[in-house]
Amino acid sequence: MNDKPWGAGMPTKVAAVPAGDEEEAVPFVAPAARQNSPRRSWTTTVFGIQILLFLGAVISFTMLYKSFLAAAGVACVNAAVVDRRQGSSSSDVPNYYQTVPEQFPGPTATGAAPFLAETNPAPFASTSYIPNTPLETQVPISGNTNNSNIYQLHGQLSHYFPNPIGFGVNEYSLPAGAEIVELNMLSRHGSRYPTTGSGAFLFGQKHANMTGKANFTGELSFLNAWTYQLGAEILVPVGKQELFDSGVLHYYQYGHLYNNNGSKIIARSTTQDRMTQSAEYFLAGFFGLTWTENATLVLQIENTTGVWNNTLAGYDNCKNANNGRSTGGTNATAEWAAVYLANATERFQALSPGFNWTVTDSYNVQSLCAYETVAFGFSYFCGLFTYEEWEGYEYSVDISFAGNNAFQSPTGRGVGIGYVQEVLARLQKHVLTEPIGQINVTLDNNTQTFPLNQSLYFDFSHDTNIMSILTAFGFTQFDQYLPPTEIVPHDLIVSHLEPFGARLDIEIINTPSPVNASRSAVPLLGDGPPTTYIHFILNQRTLPLYKSFPACGVRDDGWCELTTFLEVQSASYEESQYDYACNGNYSVYSYGTITNGVPLTNETFTA
Ligand SMILES: *[C@@H]1O[C@H](CO)[C@@H](O)[C@H](O)[C@H]1NC(C)=O
Ligand SMILES: *[C@@H]1O[C@H](CO)[C@@H](O)[C@H](O)[C@H]1NC(C)=O
Ligand SMILES: *[C@@H]1O[C@H](CO)[C@@H](O)[C@H](O)[C@H]1NC(C)=O
Ligand SMILES: *[C@@H]1O[C@H](CO)[C@@H](O)[C@H](O)[C@H]1NC(C)=O
Ligand SMILES: *[C@@H]1O[C@H](CO)[C@@H](O)[C@H](O)[C@H]1NC(C)=O
Ligand SMILES: *[C@@H]1O[C@H](CO)[C@@H](O)[C@H](O)[C@H]1NC(C)=O
Ligand SMILES: *[C@@H]1O[C@H](CO)[C@@H](O)[C@H](O)[C@H]1NC(C)=O
Ligand SMILES: *[C@@H]1O[C@H](CO)[C@@H](O)[C@H](O)[C@H]1NC(C)=O
Ligand SMILES: *[C@@H]1O[C@H](CO)[C@@H](O)[C@H](O)[C@H]1NC(C)=O
Ligand SMILES: *[C@@H]1O[C@H](CO)[C@@H](O)[C@H](O)[C@H]1NC(C)=O
Ligand SMILES: *[C@@H]1O[C@H](CO)[C@@H](O)[C@H](O)[C@H]1NC(C)=O
Ligand SMILES: *[C@@H]1O[C@H](CO)[C@@H](O)[C@H](O)[C@H]1NC(C)=O
Repeated sequence: MNDKPWGAGMPTKVAAVPAGDEEEAVPFVAPAARQNSPRRSWTTTVFGIQILLFLGAVISFTMLYKSFLAAAGVACVNAAVVDRRQGSSSSDVPNYYQTVPEQFPGPTATGAAPFLAETNPAPFASTSYIPNTPLETQVPISGNTNNSNIYQLHGQLSHYFPNPIGFGVNEYSLPAGAEIVELNMLSRHGSRYPTTGSGAFLFGQKHANMTGKANFTGELSFLNAWTYQLGAEILVPVGKQELFDSGVLHYYQYGHLYNNNGSKIIARSTTQDRMTQSAEYFLAGFFGLTWTENATLVLQIENTTGVWNNTLAGYDNCKNANNGRSTGGTNATAEWAAVYLANATERFQALSPGFNWTVTDSYNVQSLCAYETVAFGFSYFCGLFTYEEWEGYEYSVDISFAGNNAFQSPTGRGVGIGYVQEVLARLQKHVLTEPIGQINVTLDNNTQTFPLNQSLYFDFSHDTNIMSILTAFGFTQFDQYLPPTEIVPHDLIVSHLEPFGARLDIEIINTPSPVNASRSAVPLLGDGPPTTYIHFILNQRTLPLYKSFPACGVRDDGWCELTTFLEVQSASYEESQYDYACNGNYSVYSYGTITNGVPLTNETFTA
């Protein structure tokens, strides 16, 4: 979403950052656009250049690379290895294959190194010792009466966990004779440092500014010695692990779909450092360290200037996603924070004479709990809040996504529509010959960069962008209005949709005949011709298609016949009102006015 700090909308004009990743989605600071390098060798000429580059670049190899070399020995460098680095400065290699060095890296500040062995306060009083794995998440939380996990209430800043409650249907095994023939995965990047300018960062600045002027007592005493030590933007170690683990998981799930005939598949990400690296760690998990023999990365240039079309960061090509028209969620989040953080703010104020502790500060240190945990393994900020306040935090992020990036935002559908069109094109086996949404025709009108014959498609994107993609598909299951005054039961729970390392798996399933909508039917397979279904799985739980697309019909397994699904989706581009939503000069509508992810249609288009 927007990367604007939510504080920007706060009445107190504090610049807090909201929960989300929003920032992430839209890098608040300078966006990173870099391009990546090459991975696939096209020709022997390129290969030769690569070797030269390789020799020249040995010293600057990155860690992953180094460990590979250490294991393999420089002498046995193979083509794949050379491949990864090549391209870099070779003008013969198209820029969308260049991963190293990054051409548009953006901010990539590294934070302090963790020292959990020294900083970990575990074991905690009255709990048995549980070793950290690798993060320390056993921190005692007031009001947590049933052993729930506050680290799963961090919205988009939660480190990866499978959706624990599902989306309303159970999971089923495949009927006999059915086969999965295609997988389209869309993954979020892994855990990262905050975006520069985020609320967490601003709290660090305010704290530093107050050194010598404020005293902290009681449970805030640690702040007398604390300093802000996080980096910016790039993956933290557990973020790399999340993507590696996801690659391993996907190999177990879908390894059979890799057509091992020596041809490489294309996987897609963006030039931003954490995006490129997330794709690389995933592919290393899926294929192993020699993954460059099996896959080639195509990188879309990611840059907030909007000069480059990018379906994996679609907000960059959507003007109204980056102005006040799409900040309803930010504003409503600030409103909700004033409610659920009133107690905490009062508590902390009493413990910090001279600091002038605000609601925004309380909000920012909640996000610091999440960031420090993934960066250092443990954070003192986590234990400062009650369980109820953590539920409030999750809800604040849910509101933010709803209002900035989903059905309560006028650009909710527009931002995600380009990617939706790419998925539909793949399913219908055609390239995209004309600009539509955010697509880059140069890349998508070419089967070298937009292949149609793969069984496995791996794409990488951002949290708020994936939220908008779900909105552009029309997942109205998540369209509920979330009041900024109290928590109501709701389905749009960001930590279940877009935690770090989130993954949407879209399966295409062929069955010998139609599968009964009731999984208790005997026989399960009815009479009729072979049938093809589509099955959406988000964070390892089925998204029931009938809940959002009634034409799919109620089914226990949540599948939809592919032809029905494609028919429903044939209207998705028009429904997104892409041009008007993104470029139209329409009024700002306050949070709650918009309900369908598009602007109100009672205005004349005056883009
Ligand atoms: C984005 O593009 C602008 C204009 O070309 C450039 O100045 C800026 O450095 C780019 N940002 C990143 C993060 O690459
Ligand atoms: C108990 O745990 C569930 C989640 O598993 C949570 O929804 C519920 O609010 C918790 N109740 C209390 C009293 O903590
Ligand atoms: C901290 O102080 C610097 C330098 O005076 C100032 O620019 C900045 O706005 C202050 N930041 C905060 C959050 O108080
Ligand atoms: C990757 O490609 C190499 C070279 O073709 C092959 O030996 C290897 O089996 C492939 N990896 C997987 C997981 O299929
Ligand atoms: C399309 O992609 C190509 C390859 O990355 C790039 O050179 C070109 O600038 C892109 N154009 C737009 C409008 O994004
Ligand atoms: C959110 O609040 C800001 C600051 O008051 C305002 O400029 C913006 O128009 C508001 N956005 C919406 C959608 O209400
Ligand atoms: C705030 O304190 C009141 C009174 O103790 C309590 O009823 C309420 O649940 C607290 N709210 C939160 C979000 O902790
Ligand atoms: C902080 O504590 C020191 C020593 O206890 C005291 O001299 C100073 O006045 C206090 N400052 C504030 C702002 O309370
Ligand atoms: C405390 O912060 C608020 C919000 O930034 C500001 O309006 C107020 O003037 C500050 N109070 C003091 C005593 O600094
Ligand atoms: C798409 O590719 C076809 C075949 O290469 C070419 O004829 C056509 O001009 C391309 N369209 C665009 C918009 O680039
Ligand atoms: C980029 O997208 C815009 C808007 O859809 C379109 O006008 C332009 O032709 C696209 N450029 C490329 C290279 O696809
Ligand atoms: C459009 O409809 C909304 C909601 O009914 C209303 O608030 C707004 O004033 C209308 N805009 C125009 C230009 O009529």
